[in-house]
Amino acid sequence: MERRNIHPQGPVFSRIVAGAWRWHNVSPEIVERLALAAIDEGITSFDHADIYGDHCNEETFGRALAKNPAMRNQIELITKCDIKFASAKRPATRVKHYDTSQEHIIWAAENSLKMLRTDHIDLLLIHRPDPLMDPHEVAEAFGKLKQQGKVLHFGVSNFTPSQFRMLQQHLPFPLVTNQIEISLSQIDPFFNGDLDLMLELGVSPMAWSPLGGGTLPVDERTMFGMAGKYNASYTQMAIAWLLRHPAKIFPVIGTTQPERIREAAKSTDIDLDRQDWFEMLRWVMGKDLP
Ligand SMILES: NC(=O)c1ccc[n+]([C@@H]2O[C@H](COP(=O)([O-])OP(=O)(O)OC[C@H]3O[C@@H](n4cnc5c(N)ncnc54)[C@H](OP(=O)(O)O)[C@@H]3O)[C@@H](O)[C@H]2O)c1
Repeated sequence: MERRNIHPQGPVFSRIVAGAWRWHNVSPEIVERLALAAIDEGITSFDHADIYGDHCNEETFGRALAKNPAMRNQIELITKCDIKFASAKRPATRVKHYDTSQEHIIWAAENSLKMLRTDHIDLLLIHRPDPLMDPHEVAEAFGKLKQQGKVLHFGVSNFTPSQFRMLQQHLPFPLVTNQIEISLSQIDPFFNGDLDLMLELGVSPMAWSPLGGGTLPVDERTMFGMAGKYNASYTQMAIAWLLRHPAKIFPVIGTTQPERIREAAKSTDIDLDRQDWFEMLRWVMGKDLP
């Protein structure tokens, strides 16, 4: 598995990242099995958020880590903050909203450290753009967390290019990624400027739901014909299609099955031909390019 800088100033992640969103209602033993299957394939970077599994998934992962402390040095931990929703675990929250106040970012990061049972987070993302975001407050929070060594790098998720640029202008260090939805089911970033900005700044995006959350359209003639040509599965072709982009996309896979983690890891072996890439694009667009 390739490892590379997501940004010229770091950090280094595995090219495929394991997402923990769907790892809920399972025991720490199952999470440990999933994590070990990933690590075995060289997938060492794990994507969390404070809210996943109604605020439980970080804690379960932390319990798996506590059982296997040597694992921490083999992996990189990504997590996110700012989404708040009504939950028995958060009785003070009445309405779903976003919170990028300095106080909340610091509280959320420190809580994630506690849940994940680690002394540092490799990458903290603002999960969703907050219409009330004050970039000065975000900069203060990020600066304190970085200075204390609690968070090593920062980024955002679901930001538009203008939101990304605006926040970046207030920070003395780089936002190292924008985690956005990109897949054969969500091709907008190829055309709406999202990936242009990443290329301009030398930042690699992370692609969430790279398999469309398991609902990719299936065109048997194109996909299975192509899969036969590359001796690969449909899943592997869909991930290889993302990996082919020059912005060096990091797909965040979401499967809950160790054998599917192993399958996805093999996608990095596929060297997708330019015309085949366009054939897959034409198939999802449902028409020829102009
Ligand atoms: N930043 C954000 O706003 C945001 C939003 C959503 C997600 N995320 C991140 O992105 C990660 C991935 O999202 P996702 O789970 O929607 O990703 P995904 O990899 O596109 O979808 C995974 C789903 O597809 C199913 N699936 C069906 N066939 C599969 C196959 N052959 N191989 C693999 N999976 C198959 C899986 O089922 P099985 O489990 O049965 O394999 C699972 O339910 C999340 O864990 C989270 O870390 C971030």
